[in-house]
Amino acid sequence: MAKFYLTTPLYYVNAAPHLGHAYSTIVADTIRRYKNLQGLDAFLLTGTDEHGQKVERSAKLAGMSPQEFADQVAELFRKEWQDLGLEFDSFIRTTDAKHEVAVKKIFEAVWKAGYIFKGSYTGQYCTACEQYANEAKPGEPCPECGGPTETITEENYFFKLSAFQDRLLNYYEEHPEFIRPETRRNEVIAFVRSGLRDLSISRTTLKWGIPLPSLPGSSSEASQEKHVFYVWFDALTGYLSGIGYGQDESGEEPFRRLWPADLQIVGKEIIRFHAVYWPAFLMAAGLPIPHTLFAHGWLLFEEDKMSKSRGNVVSPGPVREVLGIDALRYFLLREIPFGQDGNFSFDALVSRYNSDLANDFGNLASRVLTMIGRYFNSEIPYPSVMAQRSAQDRHILELAENVISRYTAALDNYEFSGGLEAVWELIAAVNKYLVDTEPWALAEKNTGEDRSKLATVLYTSAEALRIATQLLSPIMPESTARIWTQLGQTTELSSLPLKSIKESPLATQEKIGKIEPVFPRLEKEATVRKLVQLQQQVSGRGLPKKTAAGVGAETALAIAKIAIEDFLKVELRVGEVRVAERVKGASKLLRLEVDIGTETRQIVAGIAESYAPETLIGRKVVIVANLQPRKLRGIESNGMIVAASVGKEDRPVLVTFIEDVPNGAKLR
Ligand code: MSP
Repeated sequence: MAKFYLTTPLYYVNAAPHLGHAYSTIVADTIRRYKNLQGLDAFLLTGTDEHGQKVERSAKLAGMSPQEFADQVAELFRKEWQDLGLEFDSFIRTTDAKHEVAVKKIFEAVWKAGYIFKGSYTGQYCTACEQYANEAKPGEPCPECGGPTETITEENYFFKLSAFQDRLLNYYEEHPEFIRPETRRNEVIAFVRSGLRDLSISRTTLKWGIPLPSLPGSSSEASQEKHVFYVWFDALTGYLSGIGYGQDESGEEPFRRLWPADLQIVGKEIIRFHAVYWPAFLMAAGLPIPHTLFAHGWLLFEEDKMSKSRGNVVSPGPVREVLGIDALRYFLLREIPFGQDGNFSFDALVSRYNSDLANDFGNLASRVLTMIGRYFNSEIPYPSVMAQRSAQDRHILELAENVISRYTAALDNYEFSGGLEAVWELIAAVNKYLVDTEPWALAEKNTGEDRSKLATVLYTSAEALRIATQLLSPIMPESTARIWTQLGQTTELSSLPLKSIKESPLATQEKIGKIEPVFPRLEKEATVRKLVQLQQQVSGRGLPKKTAAGVGAETALAIAKIAIEDFLKVELRVGEVRVAERVKGASKLLRLEVDIGTETRQIVAGIAESYAPETLIGRKVVIVANLQPRKLRGIESNGMIVAASVGKEDRPVLVTFIEDVPNGAKLR
């Protein structure tokens, strides 16, 4: 059986898993299921990226050792994937002993091939991105993420990336399927064409990493000088170590069978590491290059990338609890064309659930099955012979055939949204067919001819329902399995190959199963309220101190006490409100223009329910002045107004001064 090896990125353990991470893993799990149904032997690797400055710092803040910290957060990821029913074949942690062996092995291969040299480097380093910000000057922010950079001088080992510029460009040219989608491919090509600089792949400024091995034939002993690997050199190798690279004969067998990867799924912000550094490392080590890298877009929340540093993450838990895993899978795959950014909101999630799952798919299943129960004693009825069927009957089966082809073509091309649209065309057509043919009226008349028409309508609808259910199984494994059982099927849906869809129509006179609603309709406002409430509980969970027994890393991530230097990073200033007005369509938001002495800032603040805009003009306020800008309802907010949060309903009360203070005064 041919293999299909696919990977997710290896997630940093400095944040608990959120919906952004879940998105990549859900897509990967869907593809794994789909490829298995196509008769391939799919193998999915996921895991965690645990070294580097980011993790070292988070652990320090949490008062834990990096290893202890990483152990707990890695476990959160593993558990989240399990709770979400995501099936993977290997979970690599970059702190696993076998990973260290693999990193050293690939490094030695690259060294032997002559692509490593020693040099010195001074530059701005961005800890958030874990990379040098070559374009930034001292004091300037990172051009990628806008975060602070620091000046670092290091004696490092370098990788001769510049030697790969032409080879990479030729490779992109000859393998147009290597970087997808096209926009990312063009970006990468332009980047490589603009020239590649050699890459420092070791660090002496931090301890939390894999030590470089002693280099045979080298005048200096890298390990003795306390060099550790640059975190990206380390992390990318996880795609190899997770399948046995570097192990002895039998341990390395999966690697030999599985490598090169068929598909590597990554978020668009890390395409450069995967499309430039990664193939160059592999070429240098004499290893084959993966077939396709697919860079997907970002899941946005309130129009900003969902991320821990932006403080706008949504946890998978509440959605899972209230709507179920399949609703989340469906929403993400349907709502966001794969490759583009997409908005996540509880409102849109519940609306789609009600319209597409409860009203369309769920309703089709319960209508068809209930009528078979009522009119045919729960047995799939015999349809009329083809010649006696109406154009309407025939149209449904023809459409079903056409939808099968369109769906598979779309999924083969990773166009989940398009594939789902095709299936919903079928579902809508069958719902309309039932309205047009009125089976309930046929049942009432009950003549011989009506009875056979009724049998044909219900058989045709049940057959279309079977096809839709089978097609949707990689997308919504749990709920389609339930509908499958209700259709009276005893074979396990997840083990039925895709080709059986056309080959095995519903058998007549088989008993259907017990009918139960799979997607009950939800009251929208109450459901959204509940989701918001649960999300708030997850975000503000009780924060006990670290005990001898250890606290969950999720808690540790939240409790981290900060040092005075961290507090001093927050720039608090006095401002005066010049303009205040309501934000259209947002009952809580005001748009303010605040004079902070040197400039006037536009700030969007959630205080409209406590303060009428006109009462704020001329009022002194305190603002956080050095926050990254973010958009709320499409309006850019440059800072945050400081307010006390009062009572159960968290009513905001603005900070005030008794004495007069000038605009722009700093708070310390
Ligand atoms: N550790 C590196 C990857 C190393 S791979 C050898 C890393 N980790 S990360 O945790 O910051 O992010 C990993 C991935 O999580 C992103 O590339 C993306 O696939 C996913 N996402 C995290 N936030 C996301 C969104 N808001 N939206 C969509 N996916 C995002 O980078």
